[in-house]
Amino acid sequence: SHAPLIAPSVLASDLSALGDECEAVIDAGADWIHFDVMDNHYVPNLTFGPPVCASLAKRLKKSHPDVPIDVHMMVKPVDALITAFADAGAASITFHPEASEHIDRSLQLAIDAGCKTGLVFNPATPLEYLKYVLDKIDIVLIMSVNPGFGGQSFIEESLGKIAEARDIIDASGRDIRLQVDGGIKTDNIKRVAEAGADTFVAGSAIFGQPDYAKVIADMRGELS
Ligand code: DX5
Ligand code: ZN
Repeated sequence: SHAPLIAPSVLASDLSALGDECEAVIDAGADWIHFDVMDNHYVPNLTFGPPVCASLAKRLKKSHPDVPIDVHMMVKPVDALITAFADAGAASITFHPEASEHIDRSLQLAIDAGCKTGLVFNPATPLEYLKYVLDKIDIVLIMSVNPGFGGQSFIEESLGKIAEARDIIDASGRDIRLQVDGGIKTDNIKRVAEAGADTFVAGSAIFGQPDYAKVIADMRGELS
C-alpha cells in the first residue's frame, strides 16, 4: 500500500499568482500539483494550455524539483495534447477513456513520452476499461464530482466505486495509485481513504482557506 499523497488542484488558487500559489502550497506540505486542463468541449469550462504548464514546470524545477505536476486532461481529442503536456513538463498525465478514440494508443503516447499515465472515471463511467490496460497505467482516478468545475459537492456513490477500483488494483498486483478528485474536504477524506484511495485531490478545501499548511496537516491527521 502507498503512503497517502495530497494533490492540491490549482484550479481553485489565485490564478493571477499561479507560481506563487504552487510554491506556497508545496511549502505547506503538498505532494503533487494537480493541474486541471479543460477545453470547453469535453467539459464546459476552459483553463490552461501547455505553455502555462511549461512555465510552471520551469519554475518548480528550480524551486521544488521533487514535486510532480499531475496533469488531469478533460479534453477531447486527447492525443496531441498528451504529447504537448509531456513536452511541457508533466510528470503524470491522466485522461478520460471516453475522450480517446484509441485508449491503448493514448496511454502508449504518454508512456513513450516518459510520463506516468492513467485513466479517469466520471461518476457514471464504468470501470470496465481498466482490466485491459492494467499493465500500462500508474494511476486510476475516480471522479467524485462531474468534471468541469471546482467547489462541487462530493457524490456519495463514489465510495462504492473507489472500493471496486481498489479491488481491481489489488488483484492486479501492480503498482497503481488510486486517486480521487472532487469535493474532498477534511471532513470526508477519512471515508475516501477507508474506501481505498491513496491519492487525494483537493481544490477549494485547500485554496479556500487562508492557512494551507493547517488544512493539509488536518487532512493528514484524518489519514493517520
Ligand atoms: C473538476 C476538477 C477537480 C477540481 C476539484 O473537474 O478535476 O480537480 O478542481 O476541486 P474541488 O476540490 O473544489 O472539488
Ligand atoms: Zn482534476
